[in-house]
Amino acid sequence: MSGPTGGTDAADPPEHGATGALTVVGTGIDVTTQLTPGAQAAIEAADEVMYIVADPVAALRIEALNPNARSLDSLYGAGKDRHGTYDEMAEAFLEPARKGLRSCAVLYGHPGVFGLPAHVAVQRARAEGISARMLPAVSALDCLFADLGIDPGSTGLHCYEATHFQRRRPAIDVDATLVLLQPGMIGELGGEPTPAVAGRFRQLVEQLSDVYSEAREAVLYTASPYPAARPAVLRFPLGAPEPPTPDLAATLCIPGS
Ligand SMILES: C[S@@+](CC[C@H](N)C(=O)[O-])C[C@H]1O[C@@H](n2cnc3c(N)ncnc32)[C@H](O)[C@@H]1O
Repeated sequence: MSGPTGGTDAADPPEHGATGALTVVGTGIDVTTQLTPGAQAAIEAADEVMYIVADPVAALRIEALNPNARSLDSLYGAGKDRHGTYDEMAEAFLEPARKGLRSCAVLYGHPGVFGLPAHVAVQRARAEGISARMLPAVSALDCLFADLGIDPGSTGLHCYEATHFQRRRPAIDVDATLVLLQPGMIGELGGEPTPAVAGRFRQLVEQLSDVYSEAREAVLYTASPYPAARPAVLRFPLGAPEPPTPDLAATLCIPGS
């Protein structure tokens, strides 16, 4: 999910009344250890729960917490425009609240980090006079800082969506850490990656090696969704003749220097 255009005011607790209420929560990346007590309570208290998660354990946990939970995965379609899907998700999150019910939207990671449907739903709810709030959670970015030992306070941090970065070519400080999310969907408008991702990712790596240097190390990083498993950390120089192709869960990082 791409980033939002505006923020949401988390200091607006929902009160269940005639107009219903919406609470948006995240599972963290590892639901077993990162689901917060606040998120769990919101899922349990809701009349209806809709979720978009990346692994089956998270889906099972949410359904165990609330029998009125359902996945919105079926809204994705291979050739279907992703932004249309995000709009449908936001509307699905809102529907129970419009009927006067307590609606809970659950996204993996932090719901507001590259979580456009969550932000849109909160903004629309408030515009319609429905009480809405978003709870913070552990994002992939948080896991990356911990697993790769990177402190954004040391060198600074740039964080972009990979397609946005490739197209807009923003000015960057080469000494700061760069994090690009969604490299496994680079250039894709639909709901699933196509074989064209590999070529576009190679072009991205070439673009980066022009800005940094061929010797600069890049990392394809995937946090583990399970407590017993280690993260996947694939290091390669930007000048590598055959850079790896990212999968859907990977994040590209160039650590600061
Ligand atoms: C739509 S965004 C969702 C981000 C999520 N809301 C969060 O808080 O991390 C999807 C992107 O997040 C990153 N991501 C998701 N799961 C990840 C994981 N397990 N490890 C590393 N990055 C991950 C990848 O860059 C992926 O393309």
